[in-house]
Amino acid sequence: MNLNEILEWRYATKKMSGKAVPQEKVDYILEAARLAPSSSGLQPYRIIVVTDPEIKEKIKPIAWDQSQITDASHVLVFAAWDNYTEEKIKAVFEKTLTARGLPLDRMDAYRERLWGMYSQLTEERHNHHAAKQAYIAFGLAIAAAAEQKVDATPMEGFDPNALDEILGLREMGLKSALVLPLGYRDEDNDWLAGLEKYRTPEEEFIINK
Ligand SMILES: Cc1cc2nc3c(=O)[nH]c(=O)nc-3n(C[C@H](O)[C@H](O)[C@H](O)COP(=O)(O)O)c2cc1C
Repeated sequence: MNLNEILEWRYATKKMSGKAVPQEKVDYILEAARLAPSSSGLQPYRIIVVTDPEIKEKIKPIAWDQSQITDASHVLVFAAWDNYTEEKIKAVFEKTLTARGLPLDRMDAYRERLWGMYSQLTEERHNHHAAKQAYIAFGLAIAAAAEQKVDATPMEGFDPNALDEILGLREMGLKSALVLPLGYRDEDNDWLAGLEKYRTPEEEFIINK
């Protein structure tokens, strides 16, 4: 199957079977997310992999009681940096330059320009910008899961503050942005399985100029 056929196959699974996703497939999906591009290469987000049934039980009620949270074997939580600081940016740039064997001052001018821009913004805007980067990794994880014939449900339907509390994210300087349960569709009990996929028609969606 090519990528578009894979994307046609996948859907936001509403009922999962409880069957576990093999670890190597989870690792592959996480690697696709790790390889995602991000603004200035900062990767201002982390992925928390929840497999503990007790933690999943705690998350379910604050995620609109969505059954995928407990029926998925792995629940990926995409969490964005709560803010940008000069130190955080410097640390990433230094690691990048070290990995490339380049002088550590090579990106100083760029970093100063970047911080000049970010330092004008509120922490809320920082977190919003960081979360936007997380969405790119999220999209790639969804595609990678589908390529592995693993079902996934993209989720914004949860209380982020409550999830941050359950996972202790505040202490890590993170705020939850998105949740992606991974598992396998329960075709017989999923009302969405087999329904036609609807997308805005191409002629309306694509605007040629
Ligand atoms: C960012 C985002 C958040 C979503 N939140 C939820 C959610 O909380 N629960 C759910 O069942 N589906 C959720 N969806 C699934 C969408 O409703 C679904 O992707 C859309 O209707 C297109 O259908 P398809 O994914 O089945 O092709 C979300 C999708 C995205 C991209």
